[in-house]
Amino acid sequence: MNLPQPSLGTPQPLARPRLTFIGTYAICFAELGYDVLGLDVDAQKIELLARGEVPIHEPGLDDILRRNVAAGRLRFTTDYAEAAEFGDVHFICVGTPQRGDGLGADLSYVEAAVTALVPHLTRQSLIVGKSTVPVGTAAWVEQLVGKHAPAGVEVEVAWSPEFLQEGYAVEDVLRPNRLVLGVRSPWAHEMLLAAHKGVFDLAATEDREVPVVVTDFATAELVKHAANSFLATKISFINAMAEVCEVSGADVSQLARAIGYDDRIGKKFLRAGVGFGGACLPKDIRAFQARAQELGAGEALRFLHEVDLINQRRRSRVVQLAADLLGRPYGPAGPDLTGFRIAVLGATFKPGTDDVRDSPALSITRKLRRAGAEIALYDPKGMANARREQPDLEYADTLVDAVTGADLVCVLTAWEEFRYADPSHVASLVRGRRVIDGLNCLDQPLWIAAGWEYRGMGRPTPA
Ligand code: UGA
Repeated sequence: MNLPQPSLGTPQPLARPRLTFIGTYAICFAELGYDVLGLDVDAQKIELLARGEVPIHEPGLDDILRRNVAAGRLRFTTDYAEAAEFGDVHFICVGTPQRGDGLGADLSYVEAAVTALVPHLTRQSLIVGKSTVPVGTAAWVEQLVGKHAPAGVEVEVAWSPEFLQEGYAVEDVLRPNRLVLGVRSPWAHEMLLAAHKGVFDLAATEDREVPVVVTDFATAELVKHAANSFLATKISFINAMAEVCEVSGADVSQLARAIGYDDRIGKKFLRAGVGFGGACLPKDIRAFQARAQELGAGEALRFLHEVDLINQRRRSRVVQLAADLLGRPYGPAGPDLTGFRIAVLGATFKPGTDDVRDSPALSITRKLRRAGAEIALYDPKGMANARREQPDLEYADTLVDAVTGADLVCVLTAWEEFRYADPSHVASLVRGRRVIDGLNCLDQPLWIAAGWEYRGMGRPTPA
């Protein structure tokens, strides 16, 4: 892309700009050597962070937080004036959840952050959006900035989407597989490179390169929605294959392995199971469709509706399997599972996190509960969040407590604690040896040898 040349007198980017992160993604950039200020409007969260406690479960993050707070490179605040005073580059990392009234993204947190920060700015600054947003948002933020910036203070906008995966956040920030920089001026470009110099320096010491795609706002915004839609489509593709395997007696795990050896297809994100959840993929495919519809390209993304439906059907499939294993008919209102105790192993949307947002495990548990079953739910890290979101479910403190006396065990999150549980030991605790392996993550022959009636996802019923 051809960027306009800097005019004479344009200030040079700083070698190591001071960074603020609104929405507290701050921690890893301090590890890269920057002076960082994290801002969140949640005073309780900020208090925890300042004390060196990470409010979420994210492997490796506590250690980095404590080290960098102690080194004086990392501080936290709830005060926008302080953030404006401190930073040269301000990253906006706030959430963009699904709106209450439709499929689109709720941009109110982005708007609140920008309008609270900008009036306090006193020197040339760069505002960088990292949140996942519908295409057109960066241009809208630019207008907001124009409206709220103090006279004579130059404030620019850039967009640089974040690709981190929960459970791998530290690694994904320190060693990103690419950077996407949506910029409108050479100054913004240089400033963003300076704000990521630590990432390039680390890569150089490890003999790696970090690819950088420099582009316009619209492309930068679309990259994120496109990437998450591709991942969601890949998962729904294999789950659609699972449905076909289920009616034809084939095994989707072997099918996935076989097609994954073709590196044009690749083996990642081809694990069939209960489908995708979390705070990103489900709402992003919906927001992407809603935005395309607004822009007159709704037809182009109609397949994402199908991706969503396939994903939802996987959740109902577990209830069908439960009815089948427990010998109850599946009527128009679902099965009646009254009188059965079901141990649900897993509440988080995937292992390695305590996040239960749009978790397939919790959604399936609600369905089983609605069907009349007595539930005993256990998760190694997600109990507090699950309790907050679903206070009316029955929780067990340990795996052993959950399975004791159960008529059916459902593994709905692929935690190692479940994958490597001893099927003979679990068998000695349950009332009925029936197991649904919602992620195809158990050692099927081992469970069957221990006397279990086993059902996987997209796998033939063992003879
Ligand atoms: C996702 C993307 O992977 C990140 O690149 C992106 O930055 C992030 O969203 C975001 O938008 O912020 P995340 O939500 O942490 O990251 O979770 P994933 O690892 O993508 O998993 C999503 C869901 O797909 C989980 O429920 C997982 O169990 C499921 N999944 C994943 C499958 O069902 N099968 C697979 O083969 C892989």
